[in-house]
Order: sequence, then C-alpha cells, then structure tokens
Amino acid sequence: MTHAHITAWVVALILFFVAVSLQRGNSPKARMMQMILRLFYLIIIGTGALLLYSIATIPPLYIVKALVGIWVIGAMEMILVRAAKGKSTNVFWIQFVIAFIIVLYLGFTLPLGFDLF
Ligand code: HEM
Repeated sequence: MTHAHITAWVVALILFFVAVSLQRGNSPKARMMQMILRLFYLIIIGTGALLLYSIATIPPLYIVKALVGIWVIGAMEMILVRAAKGKSTNVFWIQFVIAFIIVLYLGFTLPLGFDLF
C-alpha cells in the first residue's frame, strides 16, 4: 500500500505541474487534466486511509500526517481553481511548498514503508 500511496502522489504531482503549464498556455486541455488530477486526489486519500487502517491504534502524528496530506491537496486545488479565475495564487503556492515539505518529512519519518530520516 505504501507503494501505491507514493505512486499516487508522485503521479498527482506531475499532473499538477502539467495542468499548471497547460493553464498558463491557455490550453483547453487544462480542465481535462484537472479532472484526472482530482481522481488522483481520491486515490491518494484512499491509499492513505488504507495505510491508516493497517495500524491498530493510530498515533497522533499519523493524524497530523493525514491532515497535512489533505492540506497539500487543498493547496493544489486552490492554485488551479484560482489561476483559472485569474486570481492571485501566491499564498497557495507558499502553502503548497510548506505543506509538501512537512508531509514528506512526516511520511518518511513515520515507521511504515521507507524510513529515510
Ligand atoms: C499530496 C499528498 C500526500 C503526500 C505527498 C504524501 C506522502 C507520503 C509519504 C512520503 C509517505 C511515506 C511513505 C513511506 O514511508 O514509504 C506517506 C505515508 C503515509 N501517508 Fe501520505 N501523503 C499524502 C497524502 C496523504 C493523505 C491524504 C493521507 C490520509 C488520508 C495519508 C496517509 C498516510 C499514511 C497513514 C502513511 C503511512 C505513514 C508511515 O510511513 O508510517 N497521506 N505519505
């Protein structure tokens, strides 16, 4: 499940940047990319939830990890939706970077799967 989770967010990250660049080029494909990206949001949340179910008693840090994961997804969604409306996205880019760093750190610190830090 760890691999499915990592694959899901790596693919989502790539799709996100593709969607951002399509949007900047005013391509009509940007919306389609955004819909596919939303499907991956669900896969990330689904695989993350299954990882949570795999442990009997969930330590608080796992809840923090899950919430920050949802924060990353929220920031990506806000960037794309606001950019489509021509609104400023700076605040959400900052949130995206901060939340992404926290979630990577927490993910790889927590004991399941790979233990990088
Ligand atoms: C874009 C969003 C997300 C990113 C970048 C992300 C990233 C990661 C990473 C790097 C790991 C560590 C994998 C490993 O140890 O090999 C991980 C594990 C995990 N993630 Fe996520 N995640 C995201 C969203 C979520 C969400 C939404 C949830 C919950 C619904 C979630 C729940 C978990 C759980 C429970 C683990 C296992 C922790 C452990 O290693 O012990 N993640 N995630």
